[in-house]
Amino acid sequence: MKKKIFSGVQPTGNLHLGNYLGAIKNFVELNNDDENKCIFCVVDLHAITVNQDPKELKNNIRETVATFIASGIDPQKSIIFNQSKVSAHSEAAWILSCVARMGWLNRMTQFKEKAGKDKEKASIGLYSYPVLMAADILLYDTTHVPVGDDQKQHLELCRDIAQKFNNDFKTDNFFISPEPLIQKEFSRIMSLKDGTKKMSKSELSDLSRINLTDEKEQIINKIKKAKTDALPLPTTIKELDSRPETKNLIGIYSSLTGLTLEKSVEKFAEKNFSEFKESLTQILIDKITPISNEIKKLLSEKNYLDEILTEGCKKAEIISAEKIKKIHEIVGF
Ligand code: AMP
Ligand code: TRP
Repeated sequence: MKKKIFSGVQPTGNLHLGNYLGAIKNFVELNNDDENKCIFCVVDLHAITVNQDPKELKNNIRETVATFIASGIDPQKSIIFNQSKVSAHSEAAWILSCVARMGWLNRMTQFKEKAGKDKEKASIGLYSYPVLMAADILLYDTTHVPVGDDQKQHLELCRDIAQKFNNDFKTDNFFISPEPLIQKEFSRIMSLKDGTKKMSKSELSDLSRINLTDEKEQIINKIKKAKTDALPLPTTIKELDSRPETKNLIGIYSSLTGLTLEKSVEKFAEKNFSEFKESLTQILIDKITPISNEIKKLLSEKNYLDEILTEGCKKAEIISAEKIKKIHEIVGF
């Protein structure tokens, strides 16, 4: 079956190994299959749900495009565009916000985490963020959405919104309920400093993550300083459950090499961390530095990156405008 793929990444800087292994690597594989139609969106409207410096935002939009391409997405095969330039997204988000229920949004754990203790001070955009995400997906009759594990709940909400719209307006299958595509193993890459916390762009310490722009020396240093425990490496997978940092590092190793977790555990059973870290550092250097070098090269070709977005926006505009027209008819505008 032909898959229609849509995914988004926020242009908030510091794209890291978690973004790569949890999402972008999957984008590349989907893009390589000629049967699929892929759309990858730089979700700048989502980015401004928290404060952004306008100059940095502009750079980060380009850097996100550069990261897509440096990771192996072919702009000839996929549509790459930025959300703010295709007005259907904001418009559909409003209409869908009249379909979504407060009770549904109140359950979103990402909002609770991001808003922190003082919810009164969070922007309304941060609260309604998953509705905009549903609009992104539903406008393109998306069948599959590759994302990291943290976005699973937002996708369930998207399916609920699609179904409620179809029911309310008696338009069977007008919106298609998309399937999430989440990596089976290591769908969540954790911080190098704390194996119970997600690797994140916003974490203060840069030592907590491998950025996709990191150079060889930075990778060496970060893995050297990555938290471990005092025991040698385990002999069974089961032991990893009580050793979050070890589990994360072996998971990263497995993801990058394509080995199963069993095989990785077997390979390093009872070895000490210095030996394992050496292998991990090497595979990270092999996989990440070519991406990092390519990102830097592409960032000096601003016109090329802008052209990709302009072309992508034109294509996205055509598809989404048609869907919005139908939405207007259904709603009675
Ligand atoms: P964001 O940077 O929040 O826009 O995320 C872009 C994509 O990366 C989404 O599909 C996320 O689910 C995924 N992602 C972000 N952080 C991680 C992580 N630590 N582990 C796995 N996937 C992640
Ligand atoms: N919310 C997603 C994230 O933070 C980004 C996103 C926005 C997205 N719109 C999307 C992902 C549509 C998939 C499909 O990671």
